[in-house]
Amino acid sequence: MRKKIIAGNWKMNKDIHETVSLVNEIKDRLNGLSKNNVDVIICPPFTSLVIASGLIKGSTIKLGAQNMYHKDDGAYTGEISARMLKSIGCEYVILGHSERRQYFSETNEFINLKVKQAILYNLIPIICVGETLEGRESKVTKNIIETQIKGVLSGLTQEQINKIIIAYEPVWAIGTGKNATPEQANEVHQFIRKIISRLYSWDTAERLTIQYGGSVNPQNAYDLLSQSDIDGALVGGACLKADSFINIIGAATQCYVK
Ligand code: PGA
Repeated sequence: MRKKIIAGNWKMNKDIHETVSLVNEIKDRLNGLSKNNVDVIICPPFTSLVIASGLIKGSTIKLGAQNMYHKDDGAYTGEISARMLKSIGCEYVILGHSERRQYFSETNEFINLKVKQAILYNLIPIICVGETLEGRESKVTKNIIETQIKGVLSGLTQEQINKIIIAYEPVWAIGTGKNATPEQANEVHQFIRKIISRLYSWDTAERLTIQYGGSVNPQNAYDLLSQSDIDGALVGGACLKADSFINIIGAATQCYVK
């Protein structure tokens, strides 16, 4: 059975003081929760990674970054490498988030370079794909997803494909309070698994973790997470308060108690 993975994407939120409070609160609240089969990841901004890394030591919380560059080091002003992230205890990195595609013109080809570099440094990339509202309304969701998946995973070996997470995040559902219905999301997750099975094998597709993201909150989390092919959530807004983040994790633990 695939493990549920709940990741909090803090985006450009929380200074270092706010980070200390939030991480401590999440840590305290997690202690009271039975987390069998649920992994918890927090992805604060770059400036908070070092302090968060220290705070979560000895806990089950894992650390992720929100982006990275695909070169080892050098004259790339403003960028952060996989090696740097690894050196401060990051185990995950979100790549190809729709906000990076939209505001920073990231393409599938560029994201593909980062994916390969992340894997090289033993960082697990959480690779985001998702259609716009226009895409969904023109009924080309599957074409968009297939192009994105093939682009971001281009050239990945069988061994490399086992070291990634995919996050399906319909752009129209991000930060809008309008989540995909559990059935809509599950249908796309199954489609992603089908593409992976064609590109690699059914076994690989079955093992792949596919998270859903887009307005996940404590109210809708259980229904989304109990779908057959939804293996976790990439949470934005609702991860900025310990209460709602913990309740989403709690919903994930409930999915095993049927
Ligand atoms: P949201 O963001 O939960 O605020 O919709 C999700 C994401 O962008 O990862």
